[in-house]
Amino acid sequence: GVKRDLEGRSIMVTAGPTVEAIDPVRFISNHSSGKMGYAIARAAARRGADVTLVSGPTALDAPDGVRMVPVQSAREMLAEAEEAFTDCDIAVFAAAVSDMRPKNPAGRKLKKGVSDSELASIELVENPDILATLGASKAHQVVVGFAAETNDVIENAQAKLHRKNADMIVANDVGSDVGFGTDDNKVWLVEEAGIIDVPRMSKPELADIILDNAIRRLSE
Ligand code: PMT
Repeated sequence: GVKRDLEGRSIMVTAGPTVEAIDPVRFISNHSSGKMGYAIARAAARRGADVTLVSGPTALDAPDGVRMVPVQSAREMLAEAEEAFTDCDIAVFAAAVSDMRPKNPAGRKLKKGVSDSELASIELVENPDILATLGASKAHQVVVGFAAETNDVIENAQAKLHRKNADMIVANDVGSDVGFGTDDNKVWLVEEAGIIDVPRMSKPELADIILDNAIRRLSE
């Protein structure tokens, strides 16, 4: 049977991509499918947790028994995540948040026939870092971040662990054949105390391993 070891616990998960408007019909985004974050939300609900899933647009169905909070942009995701974060026991940041957004999205659809000089650039500004913002304000929460790396995976994940004040970073090598959009993932769990090399497996199986390790940090 399923262990109900998250009964009475509250979990917040961010998942999917964010989309950042260029005009009313176009946007900047990325290839996150939401599979990783949704798998964590689903596993946590099965294990008895009260789960809030703050998700950018995906093609996935809402997992059973999970409170869904749909968002579009990074700034919307921050506002909703902040609200869910305050009272949660574990916060998991699996979303692929767009690091930047168009500074001045056009109010109307851009049309053909605009001059090349007007089309030469889309001015970008940096988005807030949701994990770093909430990590800096953490009290009792166990904070689990992700790191999508193409090189120096462990070193970069350790830097994110410190910079974003997380308790654990799930580091994936997205330069290999797993990561964005795939059913499997290959990760290392990076904590201050050490690194766990997790073999390649399905995202639902991995979700339970990530939760096992977050729960261990809860009772410390
Ligand atoms: O959705 P799938 O198709 O299943 O793919 C899964 C995944 C590859 C998206 C997932 O496993 C993953 O790695 N998610 C994090 C992707 C990412 O944006 O990594 P990062 O290294 O750029 O960011 C580091 C951490 O900071 C992440 O926890 C991220 O959610 C967070 N972040 C980043 C930027 C930002 N502005 N705000 C954030 O909260």
